[in-house]
Amino acid sequence: MSNVTRPNFHPISYRGRHLFMDGVSIREVVSRVGTPCYIYSAGDIRRRFGEFDDAFATVPHRVCYAVKANSNLAILKLFRTLGSGFDVVSGGELFRVLRAGANPRAVVFSGVGKTAEEIDFALSRRIGQFNVESAAELELLAARAQALRVKAEAGLRVNPDVDPRTHPYIATGLREHKFGIDIHSVDELFRAARSRPFLRLRGLGFHIGSQILSLEPFADAAAILANKVRQLRAAGFEIHTLDLGGGLGISYRGERTPPAQALARRVLPILRPLGCTLFFEPGRWLVGRAGVLVTRVLFLKRNGRKNFVVVDAGMNDLIRPTLYQAFHQILPVERSTRTGSFRADVVGPICETGDFFARDRRLRKPQPGELLAIGETGAYGFSLASNYNARPRCPEILIDASRARLIRRRESPADLVRGEILSPIRL
Ligand code: LLP
Repeated sequence: MSNVTRPNFHPISYRGRHLFMDGVSIREVVSRVGTPCYIYSAGDIRRRFGEFDDAFATVPHRVCYAVKANSNLAILKLFRTLGSGFDVVSGGELFRVLRAGANPRAVVFSGVGKTAEEIDFALSRRIGQFNVESAAELELLAARAQALRVKAEAGLRVNPDVDPRTHPYIATGLREHKFGIDIHSVDELFRAARSRPFLRLRGLGFHIGSQILSLEPFADAAAILANKVRQLRAAGFEIHTLDLGGGLGISYRGERTPPAQALARRVLPILRPLGCTLFFEPGRWLVGRAGVLVTRVLFLKRNGRKNFVVVDAGMNDLIRPTLYQAFHQILPVERSTRTGSFRADVVGPICETGDFFARDRRLRKPQPGELLAIGETGAYGFSLASNYNARPRCPEILIDASRARLIRRRESPADLVRGEILSPIRL
């Protein structure tokens, strides 16, 4: 670990020997809340949102933060104050953004399996747009809108059949994936929508995958969409909105990543002439590098020829390494002058071989009790956390204006059994 002297994630830096986030000592935060804990930088989220929003300033657009990346209410409220819209994929996420004070008109509802109850909830709150993913969903939406006598604003998510060249679990825009509507069925659905009085189909969109580091798949999908818009307009349909989804990747291990400006330069020449309002649904790009997961070393051990660093965070706190073979940088919260590096797996306490944060990683041999920061965990960190092994979920802290604020308490043992019924109730 000591050989990593310049962390490639910006809100974090060393002052002397100590790791700081936006002027606040990580060690001091931990002395208040314990480990494991997530710590986020509000400043970095502001910077990233500003950068994305500015990149598209020359066209009518709305950035709709993808709530699934990090859905803590304080984070959602921060986005609201920045003027962000929201991309939700469940009734629960819609509930969260409304709790955080979002304007429902700034909400788009995506997802391949919306239920009638979720659709009713979203209709009753008059959300901005439904991103519809199948003929059957369009039918259900039209029927529910009619029943509630509320106009549903909708766009179709097409499946552009482009390869985003990312991890197969997070690629979503190929024909064999469950997502989106075959581009050849789109006209038919627009025709069907014409006869539905409470349905206004007025947009197209795509979301081709996540952690995408090349701009070509975006440009390819944008070109496919642009062609479709021209065809539909020629057939007399009105298209006002285009949703380009999320998916722009971040740097986890020093990869070169395209800035939002570069995405704009690549897709705007294709889309600007259409005169549509553009929606974006970035998640990871906005919050990923703003977060660290801090954990404490419990033990060092050796089995055969392998070294293990056992820490107090587990795959229930951060599942990305085991689920996607994701690489996350691991930094000491206190740098040491000791040298002595070794190769080790950094593992958690959970009873699964898949409970690891790093494998065969070269790092400075830590001491039990030392703190480690797992980098770039602001996106899909806590939001994928679970109570597996009956482990309480950890607290979350937001650093803003050089102040650390608790935005989620550590769960208690009582939280673990909340909702469970010791003397079962007869139904
Ligand atoms: N819009 C839709 C419809 C999506 O399905 C997603 C992510 C996003 C936007 C936001 O994508 P982003 O900008 O964050 O790449 N758990 C995985 C990532 C799953 C992404 C699922 N959909 C991970 O930890 O890498």
